[in-house]
Amino acid sequence: MGIESSCDETAAAVVAGGREILSSVVASQIDIHRKYGGVVPELASREHLRRIVPVVREAMEQAGMKLEELDAIGVTHGPGLVGALLVGITYGKTLAMALGKPLVGVNHLEGHVHAVFLEAARAGRSVELPAVCLIVSGGHTVLYEVNSEGAEGKEEPGLFRYARIAQTRDDAAGEAYDKVAKLLGLGYPGGPILDRLAAVEIPGNVKGPRFTVAKMKGNSLDFSFSGLKTAVLYYVREHSEFIPEIAAREESIAQGHRKFEEILPLCSPATLALVRAFQESVVSELAGRAFAAAEQRQVASVLVSGGVAANSRLRAEFEKRGAAAGLPVYFPSRALSTDNAAMIAAAAYPRFRAGLHADLQLNADPGLKLA
Ligand code: KG4
Ligand code: ZN
Repeated sequence: MGIESSCDETAAAVVAGGREILSSVVASQIDIHRKYGGVVPELASREHLRRIVPVVREAMEQAGMKLEELDAIGVTHGPGLVGALLVGITYGKTLAMALGKPLVGVNHLEGHVHAVFLEAARAGRSVELPAVCLIVSGGHTVLYEVNSEGAEGKEEPGLFRYARIAQTRDDAAGEAYDKVAKLLGLGYPGGPILDRLAAVEIPGNVKGPRFTVAKMKGNSLDFSFSGLKTAVLYYVREHSEFIPEIAAREESIAQGHRKFEEILPLCSPATLALVRAFQESVVSELAGRAFAAAEQRQVASVLVSGGVAANSRLRAEFEKRGAAAGLPVYFPSRALSTDNAAMIAAAAYPRFRAGLHADLQLNADPGLKLA
């Protein structure tokens, strides 16, 4: 079983052999945090407490299993919000102790890597290693090299070795999506609606701004998104014609009319062009650096995971560049891209097999690194 509570999703899943999903239950807290425009840590912890028991129960029911039949309990112990993590950890420890089963601490980021492998297994494909893996979500934007051999001195299939290649120096890409959406009166979370708006044909061939992303000094592949977010902010400030439509969208969302079909008529061509320019800039930054890393490191494939990996334009761009570079590209399905517990169970499995078990000292580690 995998348990995940690092941010605003309470999730539990049962996975067989580390690769076959028997159940995956995700209770999202989006409706609770929406009115604050972001995750409120205290509310997140409280909601995890409320949801963890029913979510685990439902995961067992869907898998058609009893708790006693589990082999081990894997739980996210970082990175994430400390209070949120503690709920899952305490529950996981209690369950493991009561059942007399091994407990495995899982790094949330390693979970996102395993989401790609879960999906590939489902499609009957095996992922070529070494790989460059981009994890891109609301909390993270980081590039790793993923290698198969000799992690933690063990030779266990699925127990990967990681090297960090680059990371964001300020905001995560998903955070930039969320902040830009908020600024444009498009609600929370921002990714899904911006993704759809950016794909809309722009009436009258209206041209948007061109945002350029600052290059890092030297040959660093680090990311930066706060400059882009500020550029969008200044662009909006310089164009006062945006103000009434932003207010109209905020009003619509406050009334509960936040469906794409309800928001689209409230977006001028200039807004659609702005959204598209923002997204193009994010996608070209992400894809450009991921493929530069793939070339530098001479890897055999490119993996993308995390909430922003659900983005349709990002997927298309990675597919295109992958085809051009002759590199296979792997994504999880949309459901496995965002936070879930199947990926936590998948990442726990090789640790369980290799005897890398946790004891009851396992604690939340909000800043836990993968490499
Ligand atoms: O992985 P995730 O569920 O949680 C974190 O670990 O952060 O990612 C959530 C993030 C949010 O910032 C959300 O706006 C973004 O993923 N996101 C998207 C899309 N769907 C979700 N960003 C761009 N395009 C999308 N389709
Ligand atoms: Zn995540």
